[in-house]
Amino acid sequence: MARPTPPPPDGPRRPPAPVPSRPTLPALREAAAACRACDLFLRGTQTVFGEGEAPEAERRASVVLVGEQPGDQEDRQGRPFVGPAGRLLDKALVEAGIDRRQAYVTNVVKHFKWEPRGKRRIHQKPNEREIAACRPWLDAELAVLRPRVIVCLGATAAQALLGRGFRVTKQRGQLVPSPLAPFVTATVHPSSILRAPDDESRHAEYARFVDDLRRVAAVIAAEPAPAPAP
Ligand code: URA
Repeated sequence: MARPTPPPPDGPRRPPAPVPSRPTLPALREAAAACRACDLFLRGTQTVFGEGEAPEAERRASVVLVGEQPGDQEDRQGRPFVGPAGRLLDKALVEAGIDRRQAYVTNVVKHFKWEPRGKRRIHQKPNEREIAACRPWLDAELAVLRPRVIVCLGATAAQALLGRGFRVTKQRGQLVPSPLAPFVTATVHPSSILRAPDDESRHAEYARFVDDLRRVAAVIAAEPAPAPAP
């Protein structure tokens, strides 16, 4: 791998996210590829935009899952949740009875933030400035998708969407009132399960994660049938 040169921590002023005025998911994806709203485009290989089934006309998307930011694999492949955390998420969604094809998966920040450690690229948490700079993309995705349920995966997504006071440790699994969607909830990030110190706690954490997703599946299943055509 070429020797990485991390950018300075505080770069020059950046232009705002170039969100198109009449957004569709393909138009958003294309515009986000050229985003320079914070310094992270210098560090990531590419913008990793959200992905998933677009709702049929006149219908809401069933569920949008929001993570923190792409990881190493996602940065290389240009797709969200395709690395180890994504595989665990896929497995948990199946066990909870949520079809990943019903779900749209995205992140609060759409570039991988990392620092070099030897030959490895180590995840770094995005800061407030980076989260704010990227926020117009998430807002535009949610405006197009109008999801019935939003699931925040981990504290970064939960605090971005539900407020800085939100504590995943205490409030996970609760359905929180929000103008963003009829149902918004938060659970742990799947990578936190992968980091559990031993098999026993990993299994226990995974089971709780699946339980949280089962509650989401129940909300999706209770979705009112679309009105019949006139
Ligand atoms: N972690 C995230 O939050 N998002 C991804 O896409 C991958 C890992």
